[in-house]
Amino acid sequence: MATNDQRLSRTALITGAARGIGLATAEALLAAGHRVAMVDKDADAVRAAASKLPSDRVLAIVQDLAHPDAGGNLDRAVRKRWDPVTILVNNAGIPSPRRNGRTAGLLEMTVEEWNAVLEVNLSAALRLCRAFIPSMREGRWGRIVCVSSLAGRSRTYISGVSYMAAKAGLLALARSIAGEFGREGITANCVAPGYIDTAMAALHGEQKNVEIAKNIPLGRAGTPQEVAAAIAFLASEEAGYMTGTVVDVNGGIFMA
Ligand SMILES: NC(=O)c1ccc[n+]([C@@H]2O[C@H](COP(=O)([O-])OP(=O)(O)OC[C@H]3O[C@@H](n4cnc5c(N)ncnc54)[C@H](O)[C@@H]3O)[C@@H](O)[C@H]2O)c1
Repeated sequence: MATNDQRLSRTALITGAARGIGLATAEALLAAGHRVAMVDKDADAVRAAASKLPSDRVLAIVQDLAHPDAGGNLDRAVRKRWDPVTILVNNAGIPSPRRNGRTAGLLEMTVEEWNAVLEVNLSAALRLCRAFIPSMREGRWGRIVCVSSLAGRSRTYISGVSYMAAKAGLLALARSIAGEFGREGITANCVAPGYIDTAMAALHGEQKNVEIAKNIPLGRAGTPQEVAAAIAFLASEEAGYMTGTVVDVNGGIFMA
């Protein structure tokens, strides 16, 4: 069993932490006592978000995750100040391409658009896992949480093929890591948010969102904090016997 001091000593890294679910996760992991590296490509937003949080335990890092060197860059940036990352939250994501105010169909989307979504939503997560698993192995302790989506669990009518494929891919990535590194004390899990009240959800427009809420058993959108709570649990000592799993945070719209 970990001592209280060990609980307080983790270094966490969260991607897409400037706003929405990523920012709420930064707040939740800080509340759990961790140090938090907040990564985002939006320099102004991530610095502004970090400036409102306790400065001795927060590090804002500007990095485009689509860059092939993102993993190494982030590892170096964190080690300049803290112990290596042992809690990794792959949260950053971008939506499928759009045409005329709606998600582009499979035949409308270009291959370049497909690649761009897969790059940020799936390949970047792989890159970061490869960058941080070695230090997790050294300490025989690690937590990887990937933010998948309802769109990776079931067909949704607003998500688009590239987003759906990337989010389903994250489930497989987590299972693969769970199987390969479990004996070394590393767990890998996903959360699958449904419809959460963030800038990404606002893309669908108010009318569509009212329509979506009507079909949710809990009758409303979720909050970033409700997703962050599930992520923080999966990142905790107490979640040590959960690996390769997916936690749905969707108000009951998809039950499996
Ligand atoms: N909001 C929802 O309803 C919902 C539902 C299911 C899943 N999700 C997933 O949850 C995660 C967070 O969603 P959100 O709604 O908080 O999103 P958001 O759009 O509010 O925030 C995403 C953050 O990621 C950053 N980002 C995007 N591309 C990046 C890149 N290449 N490099 C670095 N940073 C980058 C953005 O700058 C932004 O700050 C995403 O993976 C999303 O797919 C969201």
